[in-house]
Amino acid sequence: MSLFRTKNIEAMLAAARDDGLKKVLGPVDLILMGIGAIIGTGIFVLTGTGALTAGPALTVSFVIAALACGFAALCYAEFASAIPVSGSIYTYSYATLGEIVAWMIGWDLLLEYGLATSAVSVGWSGYFQSLMAGFGIHLPVILTAAPGAVPGSQTLFNLPAAVIMLLITWIVSYGVRESTRLNNVMVAIKIAVVLLFIAVGVWHVKPANWHPFAPFGLDGIFNAAALVFFAFIGFDAVTSAAEEVRNPRRDLPVGIIGSLAVCTVLYVTVAAIMTGIVPFAKFAGIDHPVSLALQYAGQNWVAGFVDLGAILGMTTVILVMTFGQTRIIFAMSRDGLLPERLSKVHPVHATPFFATWTVGIVFAFIAAFVPLNVLAELINIGTLSAFTLISVAVLVLRKTRPDLPRAFRCPGVPVVPLLSVGFCLFLMAHLQALTWIAFSSWLAIGLAIYFLYARRNAVLHGG
Ligand code: ALA
Repeated sequence: MSLFRTKNIEAMLAAARDDGLKKVLGPVDLILMGIGAIIGTGIFVLTGTGALTAGPALTVSFVIAALACGFAALCYAEFASAIPVSGSIYTYSYATLGEIVAWMIGWDLLLEYGLATSAVSVGWSGYFQSLMAGFGIHLPVILTAAPGAVPGSQTLFNLPAAVIMLLITWIVSYGVRESTRLNNVMVAIKIAVVLLFIAVGVWHVKPANWHPFAPFGLDGIFNAAALVFFAFIGFDAVTSAAEEVRNPRRDLPVGIIGSLAVCTVLYVTVAAIMTGIVPFAKFAGIDHPVSLALQYAGQNWVAGFVDLGAILGMTTVILVMTFGQTRIIFAMSRDGLLPERLSKVHPVHATPFFATWTVGIVFAFIAAFVPLNVLAELINIGTLSAFTLISVAVLVLRKTRPDLPRAFRCPGVPVVPLLSVGFCLFLMAHLQALTWIAFSSWLAIGLAIYFLYARRNAVLHGG
């Protein structure tokens, strides 16, 4: 049964209380932090592919994806309020479901966060090139995108995506922490850009573009939901600040659910306006659909602002995700599940320097060579399976530790966690076969590493 050995919750809570981190964050900080991690490539780029898949019914796809996230968020919130310790879902499952499950989730999160940094870099690249094109600057076509990313174009290497990924790696490895103030400014810019799009775009909507509303039927709507689910990923980043929150048991659930709610309203509105301005078929092969809609409406100046805001906004997402990635690697390495070298802190920069550059270089390559849709689907399947597990974990913890104080209790147990599981599995079923194959291979490799390495070297094993 040592596969299912668990870490002691009380010991973890005590360690978090005395970790010396300042408890300064309140609910508004958390909501902004959540929005900072959420709004990015999903809304700025994937809405184009989403519109091609679902037509104007993309709005419905966003609502479906938001529901899946909402149910999972309620489960997340219960955990975050009961075990306000950083490390997110990896930590929670080590305390409840046991080591092998925690390992598999951690392994899964490595894929999710890592590929998410690549994916957002690719989105960044599209807007960067659109902005440069406004000044008449064009890269050689071969350096503009991954092979096969643009139908009918001879592309080979996404240079801007690789460069931004390495730049962020450099920043993170030198210990320039994302400060809350800088984050708040960036989030304000992002929200302003989205509101600007709404305020300008709404006057150019031609309701005729909304007919037919669902040209590809329910299948199109569900497939698009499985894709744009990506746009909501990141609300869990709020939990990574658990040890720095003034009143975690109340504020974490508010932060998680609040940021999700704000983003849902913005996304549905943006999707409606975009598909109202541009006939959806025109989004084929477009990597900056939001600014395209504005150009279509003859608002080139506003489009330029949106490009700039999107670039800044996506930069913060890459930054936050890169931090998240290194933190999870750090936690897993500290628990002995990954080599010690990966949690080694640089003597001068006080960051996990080696781990940061290792992942930075790997994911810069991936950003250069893999098209966005492929990346997004892989990230979604990883995240959806993590959400499924956390929903099950809520039910398990209610049975194994009914006594544990929970400031926030997921309502409607067991119905809500089961709905969360159902929605997540449903969306996973709408991802492509290739995504399933790639994901299964990743898990199989993870399982092998667990048995060959992690299990024996775990701190809980006396390693
Ligand atoms: N939700 C984040 C984005 O859309 C990952 O960029």
